Formats: sequence, C-alpha cells, structure tokens
Amino acid sequence: MIKKYSIKELLNNGNFFLEKKVLVEGWIRFFRNSIFIALNDGSTIKNIQIVLSKNIDKKLIKKITIGTSIKVIGILKKSIGKKQSIEIKSLYISIYGKVDQKNFQKSILQPKKHSLEKLRQQAHLRFRTSIFSSIIRIRHHIAFSIHKYFHEHGFFYINTPIITTLNAEGAGNMFQVTTMDLKNIPCIKKGDIIDYKKDFFKCKTYLSVSGQLEAETASLSLGKVYTFGPAFRAENSNTSRHLSEFWMIEPEIAFYHLEENMNLAEDFLKFIIRYIIENCVEDLSFLKENIKKWNQEDNFSILDKLELILKFPFKRISYTEAIKILEKNKKFFNPVIWGMDLQSEHEQYLVNDHFQHPVIVFDYPAGIKAFYMRINNDGKTVRAMDILFPKIGEIIGGSQREERYDLLLKRMKDTKIDDKKLWWYLDTRRFGTVPHSGFGLGFDRLVQFITGMKNIRDVIPFPRTPNNAEF
Ligand code: 4AD
Ligand code: MG
Repeated sequence: MIKKYSIKELLNNGNFFLEKKVLVEGWIRFFRNSIFIALNDGSTIKNIQIVLSKNIDKKLIKKITIGTSIKVIGILKKSIGKKQSIEIKSLYISIYGKVDQKNFQKSILQPKKHSLEKLRQQAHLRFRTSIFSSIIRIRHHIAFSIHKYFHEHGFFYINTPIITTLNAEGAGNMFQVTTMDLKNIPCIKKGDIIDYKKDFFKCKTYLSVSGQLEAETASLSLGKVYTFGPAFRAENSNTSRHLSEFWMIEPEIAFYHLEENMNLAEDFLKFIIRYIIENCVEDLSFLKENIKKWNQEDNFSILDKLELILKFPFKRISYTEAIKILEKNKKFFNPVIWGMDLQSEHEQYLVNDHFQHPVIVFDYPAGIKAFYMRINNDGKTVRAMDILFPKIGEIIGGSQREERYDLLLKRMKDTKIDDKKLWWYLDTRRFGTVPHSGFGLGFDRLVQFITGMKNIRDVIPFPRTPNNAEF
C-alpha cells in the first residue's frame, strides 16, 4: 500500500519526501499545456503541481478539466519551475468524478473573478474557492483557539439547550418549535387560542436566543464554564452584521465582578487574535494580498489591523462618558440622548474616529439592557459592558449579573418577565447566591473582523438570514 498524504504535509516536508512514492487526492484547480495540473485538497491554500508523464493515456487527458477530482500516485521531485519548489511526477492517475461541462460556465468553479454574492448562491461549491476555503480554515482555528483558551484557564465546556420555553434576553422575536400542524388543528378559528399542552413538550417552545441563563446555573456550581453553540433570532435585520442563526460563545464565571469580566474578555480576544496571527500565516497572507479584489476601500493590511488590536489596552468608558463624547459631535443621523441605545453610527464614531481602538462601554442605562444585569447604586444604570470593534461594532455583550433575589425578582416583574417560568433561574439566587459575571462573543462577527470580510454571510458556511434558508 502506498501511503496517502495531504498536500499540506507534502509541501511542508518537501525535503523529507524527495524521490519517495506518494499518493495524493484532490480537485484540479488548473490544467496547463496538457501536462501540468495544480491540485488542491483543501488542507492548505497552496496547490501541488502534478506533472503528467508522456505516456499517459490520451483518453484520460481529455477528461481532465478544472474541478475534476483525481487520485495521483507519483514520485516527489524537486521542481525546475520557479513557482514551486517541489512537484509530483505522476506514475498513475485515476478520476473520481468528472465535471459537468454543460453547466461549468455558470458555476463558480470557472476560473475568473466572481462576486461574493454569486459565491453565496453556490454555497455548496463555495468551499472550493481560495477565498472561502481560507476563511473556513481560519474559522476553524478561531474555534480551536477558543476551546484552548478556556481549557487552559480552568473553564468547563457545557452544552446548553437549543430548544427552550423562554427568551433569555427578555426581548426580541424567537423562532417557534412545534410538531403541531398549526394550519390543520381541528376546529381552529381565527382568534382561537392554541392549546400547547397538546404539543410535543406540552408547552410552547422556541429556538434559544442564548444559553446564558443555563450557563449561569452551571457556573454557580462549577465555577467557570462556557458555552459554544448556535443562537437563533427571528429579527428582520438585513444588515451585514446580523444572521438569524449565529454562533455564540458565552463564558460565565462565579465570583467575578464586572471589572474582572472586562479583563477576561479583553485577554480572551487578544489571545485568539495572537493565535491566529501565529497559526494561520498562509491563509492570512492570501487574504492580505487578495482582499482588495473584494473590499476595495480596505487599503490597510489585515495583519497590521490585527496587530494593532494587541498593542494597547482597550479603551474603557462608561456609557455616560460615551454620551458626552458623542454629544460634542453634532453630525449624527440619530440624535444623541442619554438613555438611548447606541446606534451603529455612534459606535463607529467612538471606535474609528474618537479612540481609533476597541472600546469597552460599561454601565448602560437599565432601560435598554436585559433584566438579569446587576443594578448599580444610582438605580438608573446596570453593570453591563459591550466591546466595540472597528467596522464590526458590538462584538461582545456582557454584564455582572443581578445576584440579589429581591432585586432580580423586582426587575423581572418591572420588565414583565414571567418569573413563574423562570423559577429554576431564581432558585440560584436562593441557594447560595454569589456575585457572578459573563459575556457573549459573536463568533461569526469575530471571524468577520479577523478575515476582513464586509458581510457576515461570507464567513459562515450556510448563512441563515431573512428569506434565505434554502441550503
Ligand atoms: O449582546 P447579546 O444579545 O448578549 C447575549 O445574548 C448575552 N446572553 C450574552 C451573555 O452575557 N452571556 O449577544 C452577544 C453577542 C453580540 O455582542 C454579537 O457579537 C453577537 O452576539 N450577536 C450576533 N451575531 C450575529 N448575528 C446576530 N443576529 C447577533 N446578535 C448578537
Ligand atoms: Mg448586545
């Protein structure tokens, strides 16, 4: 048996494999002069050159086109070509799958520049493109570095439910989950109340917007925990930063105050960025050289942008201070008033124009934040913190939680949260409550920031957005 190698293994250890017989498999990226094949197997952005032997079956050559999947056995040689240091001189080639030539012109496999929108329409073939496979490899490394960070810092990974009865954020639309055929319930008339006792879970259920409340219960026993899972929001927000189904990382830490929470979040983000700079050199260089094709106005280098994040501490300001800064700038479309939610234009002004660095805004007005955040002594603000990043805006949202039973119950009642449904959450405040904090990092937004993509749909394999769930 001849051993099978990934193209990455061969390219990284060229000298070791010189003159050895190897087997590789992949898809053809280019085919020149009926002799040279550039083969890619997804393990790396780089292709390996296959040189066909002269006595190769001519019928086989005819079948070889861009996109064809093949198996090659050959001898690894030093290349005389300038573009590559090694290549494989083929001894044997077989084809797994040919390419439908009739439809090739319409497919994104055709080697020319396609728009990112067009790539999205062929999401099943999008992985074959250099740009998207780079992004997906980086996405993987980001996920890995997240688990690595938490593991090394004594956190436990917990899985929180996707199906839930409640809105953990206390507001916003959710997707309903039901096995009932809502249209065909016998005798249902307009205005009738559906009896969810007859539904699968004997109550009305939804896809979860966040695993935080469950993570809190776990942290109040295990100390430090984190979730990493999908979150679902049925908001009609057709922006470049919103998905209906996105991935979120939610650490939750017992005995942590807001300050420690901010320190953790900053250290965590910097760790990930450092990890990616060190471990995704090839893909980042590819993006650095090619991103301009897609995002014309980005004339700074991706690497410089990432390194800048590591250089200085994030700027920390209270919401009230942020409002004062914004009030001095009169040019906003949305007027600046204490108590309002910061809009994208305000966040971008703080990050890009005023500080030119990530900003952590804390102590937001209670009225615009979720019921579980700890109320400050002023009675008006809560111990919330949002981390704002260049271009992306809010990348992290978190808070110190309200651990005092009476105050939490009051907040729930004031904001019309059904405290009866949340009895199990309230219990954590009745059986050995402690100060605790946590935050949620938007995974896709972080991938977007690191890869420099303008639209969040271009960093997730199968984006779910309003009107879009075909594949
Ligand atoms: O600020 P959010 O809504 O906070 C929570 O869900 C809390 N339960 C987190 C916690 O304290 N454990 O969401 C957290 C982050 C946002 O900062 C943003 O990065 C991302 O999740 N996010 C989205 N990303 C993509 N598409 C959407 N529709 C998003 N909504 C939030
Ligand atoms: Mg938020």
